[in-house]
Amino acid sequence: MNGSSGSIFDPVSPHTQAISDLFVITLWICAAIFAVVAGIVGYSLVHYRWNEGAADPVQIAGSKRLEIIWTAIPCVIVLVLFGLTVHAMEQSDPEPPVGEPDLEVIGHQWWWEVRSPKLGFVAANEIYIPVGRPMSIRLDTADVLHEFWVPQLTRKMTTVPGRGNHVWMQADQPGIYQGVCSEFCGTQHAWMRFEVIAVSEEEFDAWVEQQRQTAAVPTGDAARGAQLFRDLTCINCHAIQGVASHPTAGPDLTHVASRRFLGSGIVPNTPENLRRWMTDPQEVKPGALMPNFKLNDEQLAHLLAYLATLR
Ligand code: CUA
Repeated sequence: MNGSSGSIFDPVSPHTQAISDLFVITLWICAAIFAVVAGIVGYSLVHYRWNEGAADPVQIAGSKRLEIIWTAIPCVIVLVLFGLTVHAMEQSDPEPPVGEPDLEVIGHQWWWEVRSPKLGFVAANEIYIPVGRPMSIRLDTADVLHEFWVPQLTRKMTTVPGRGNHVWMQADQPGIYQGVCSEFCGTQHAWMRFEVIAVSEEEFDAWVEQQRQTAAVPTGDAARGAQLFRDLTCINCHAIQGVASHPTAGPDLTHVASRRFLGSGIVPNTPENLRRWMTDPQEVKPGALMPNFKLNDEQLAHLLAYLATLR
């Protein structure tokens, strides 16, 4: 599947199409105003230029007709822009549905929790959606203000502590769309990225089915890793479905091995990068809330063996 341009000028949903259209129309209106004003200035410069010996032009002070014309024209332009803007707002931000949203996305410093009580899964930093279907998303935050934005698919929407917000998301073509946090929220604001992966209904159902699976019971080194995961208190921050409690301080790791990136987009999810992350999270993502557990080689090997089973 191809990555996308990530550009607001390449909209792939009715919501972003409306925003893009408004921008383009406004640009053309402004270009026309510029052409008229620059044209009149240019004409005046040439036509009324100073000539040696010429008489002064007729001096006029006050013209009711001119005053009315150059007040009325801007009023009409502003009214047209107002009408177009209201239309774009309606198109890009329809009323949220009654009842449960399809997805809940919760901003954390610095990653995104993705859950669907409706469909019964929890994920992080990757949002799968079926192509062509509008998905309603309730937005929340675990700490500070963040802003959810997928330039090609959604309008921007702030996540406000104590006050749920709503946004619609739809992709009319399959693809991988870049999402960002677009409101400064601390050290790693720039690495609070996520991906929206738009797939067919069948692929979406299969993905949901896979995410709903609880973790398999590990054996061998992986079983020792699972024991360490509890003993070293990893489990206090990271949930693993089917194992114990469900903390949300860190990303749910039930399917961590199936994710494309680590640290909210900062590095690809490869065994080598996971080793780096576990050895010293601050080296990979300074400021991340995950502490350095100073693992010895054996502990590291067992934990990595365990995490690799979490597909
Ligand atoms: Cu979250 Cu910026």
